[in-house]
Amino acid sequence: MVAKIFSIPQLLEKKANGHKITMLTAHDYPTAYLAAESGVDLILVGDSLGMTILGYSTPVPVTLTEMIHHTKAVVRGAGNVFVVADMPYGSCQMGTERALADAIALIKEGGARAVKIEGGEEIIPIVKELTLRGIPVVAHIGVLPQTAHLWEGYTAQGLDENDARELAVVAQDLEEAGAFAIVLECIAQEAAKLITEKLDIITIGIGSGSSCDGQLLVSEDMLGLSIGDKQKFNRKFTDLQAAIRQAFAQYIKEVREGTFPTSAHAFEMEEDEAQKIY
Ligand code: KIV
Repeated sequence: MVAKIFSIPQLLEKKANGHKITMLTAHDYPTAYLAAESGVDLILVGDSLGMTILGYSTPVPVTLTEMIHHTKAVVRGAGNVFVVADMPYGSCQMGTERALADAIALIKEGGARAVKIEGGEEIIPIVKELTLRGIPVVAHIGVLPQTAHLWEGYTAQGLDENDARELAVVAQDLEEAGAFAIVLECIAQEAAKLITEKLDIITIGIGSGSSCDGQLLVSEDMLGLSIGDKQKFNRKFTDLQAAIRQAFAQYIKEVREGTFPTSAHAFEMEEDEAQKIY
C-alpha cells in the first residue's frame, strides 16, 4: 500500500502551488484499497452509496449506522489517505446538537478524518460549531443530492451572472465559517472558476469544470458499475458492468457444461484413501 498522508495544511498548500487535487468516492474496502494504492489524495464515503450500492433512488434513506458501517470498511482499505464521510440526510436537519453527535460518531466510530455537509447559509451555524470543536468540515454547494428531489431535481446551478455571484457569496460564508474545502456539484464552469478564485480553501468539482482546485467522481460511476447512470458530467474510465456480465455469463455456461470446476480447483484425497471410497 502506498502511504500518502495529507494533512489539511498540505492540501491547502497544493492549491497555493497550483497542484490539482484528486478525490474519489469509495464505499467498500477493495475500492478504498485500490484508490489509495493508485495514489488518490482524498477519499469520500459519499451517501451516493444509497444509490450505487444499496439501490435506493435518492440518498435520503441512508442512515448514520450505514454511513459508519461503510466508513469503517473504507478506512480499513484507505491506509493513510484522508477519508471524508458524508453526514447523511437528517443529521443536520435536527439542529447543531444532533449534527455534532453524528459528526463525532463518523469520526470516532467510523474513523473518518472529516465530514461533508450539503447546504448553503442554513448550515453555517453547524459548520461553525463543528470546526470550533475541532471537527474538519467539507462544505457542498450546487446540486445537493439529499434535497434535489424536493426542488428542481438535478439541475445545473450558477448558469447566470447573478446565480454565480450568489453562489460565490455562499461559498465565502462557508469558508469564513470554518470549512477547509468545498465540493461544487454541477455548477457552471465559469461560476466554479469565480468561486475557486475567490476562496483560499480548496474547491473540489464534480461536473463543475476544470478550474476547480480538485476533481471528484463517484467510483461506481467512473468504473461503469452504476446501474442506469446517465450523468452528463460522468466519464466512464472503464466498463466494469460489461466485464462482470461477461464473467458471470461465462461462469454460468461453464458450470452448466461441466467445464468448471476442473480438478485444478478441487482438493484431492491420497490415492489409497480414495480407493476406500470407490
Ligand atoms: O455522496 C456523494 O458521493 C457526493 C458526491 C456526489 C459529491 O456527495
